[in-house]
Amino acid sequence: MNVLMDSVLRDTRTVTPSLILDFNVIKQTYDRFLAAMPGSTVYYAVKANANPQVLQLVVDKGAGLEIASLAELERSLDAGATGERIICSNPIKNPIFLERMHREGVYAMTVDSTFEVEKVARYAPGSRVYVRLAVDNTGSVLPLAGKFGVDGDEALKLFDLARDLGLQPIGLSFHVGSQCLSVNNWVNAIRACGEVWQVAAARGHRLHFLDIGGGFPAGHYHTPSIPTIEGIGAAVMDAVAHYIPRDDLQILALEPGRGLVGESGRLVVSVVGKAKRGSDEWLYLDAGVFNGLMETYEGFPPVVHLLSDDAAERPTMRYTLAGPSCDSCDVIARGVELPEVHIGDRLVFLDAGAYTNEYAAAFNGFPIPRWVALNVGEADREPAVGD
Ligand SMILES: Cc1ncc(COP(=O)(O)O)c(C=O)c1O
Repeated sequence: MNVLMDSVLRDTRTVTPSLILDFNVIKQTYDRFLAAMPGSTVYYAVKANANPQVLQLVVDKGAGLEIASLAELERSLDAGATGERIICSNPIKNPIFLERMHREGVYAMTVDSTFEVEKVARYAPGSRVYVRLAVDNTGSVLPLAGKFGVDGDEALKLFDLARDLGLQPIGLSFHVGSQCLSVNNWVNAIRACGEVWQVAAARGHRLHFLDIGGGFPAGHYHTPSIPTIEGIGAAVMDAVAHYIPRDDLQILALEPGRGLVGESGRLVVSVVGKAKRGSDEWLYLDAGVFNGLMETYEGFPPVVHLLSDDAAERPTMRYTLAGPSCDSCDVIARGVELPEVHIGDRLVFLDAGAYTNEYAAAFNGFPIPRWVALNVGEADREPAVGD
């Protein structure tokens, strides 16, 4: 753990719950993506963490942005991104959003139904579009399959329809599922894209854009079985070289959300209550599934530690962790092993830089975690704090 992060986590003046973000980790992770997949373009998935300083950082690093909504577009523009560096991979876009993207010159947007192609042609005429393929999400902690994406035959029909309606079909995208632990998912998805690409080319479509989406997992540094950016990158580059026509490909797009910002963040919380219910030991925290830990409700296993100098001396216990609200679904995780915890102790959740505050609501009046940003700029000495 780095010294500055550790001191802020342990500083009792740090109010809880707080999300502490180390911007150096984001900078280094961005560089790792580019080194692992040379020539690629990172379009940071704004949904993971739309903190204005995070967006500013990724724009300053030269990254593009992947947006899903009008609000994300506005935040991206506020951070200094130009339309040319923005793509939209949300397959469902409302007319107001489409018109605004069109005005701002957003580079390209995804489609995965005839209805959406018609809508884009009407509200953002002439736009570049890419088709989202449905791909295998097995092996991802949070699968995204089912809601979006089409098979190869349908993709070809959408290319034809888009061209007929005056749009510019430029390529394909997919998402292997969030926190994807299977490198093969990317390889198989790229192979599927290659097959569609070849047929599309034979039908006269000049594709140049392959978007391999997000799904890059966080946490290899504490769980070595989790694939690294470098391991995924090697497999991706190999698959691209094998399956995608070399002369066509101009943009290899990556849309990391969690993979770029997840490891930068730690969520520090306080234990506000305890109970023994039957054989279960319960801990109640000042952040729960509504105000910061929604992903655990979706099945994401939390990595959590006790922040105490005498943690190693305390007996190990198994706890049910719950949030502070009155809702009985506000249960973070069960069977979590921790040293014995007392009311007033602090816990820290690792890899909390993505989908923590973005998912949070102040239900029951319990606050969304505060932000504490470390190493924002070269000259920064004091952490920047905000709500
Ligand atoms: C279209 C799209 N791109 C990128 C992402 C980011 O995914 P991840 O945080 O797993 O990298 C998501 C997440 O839902 C998404 O829907």
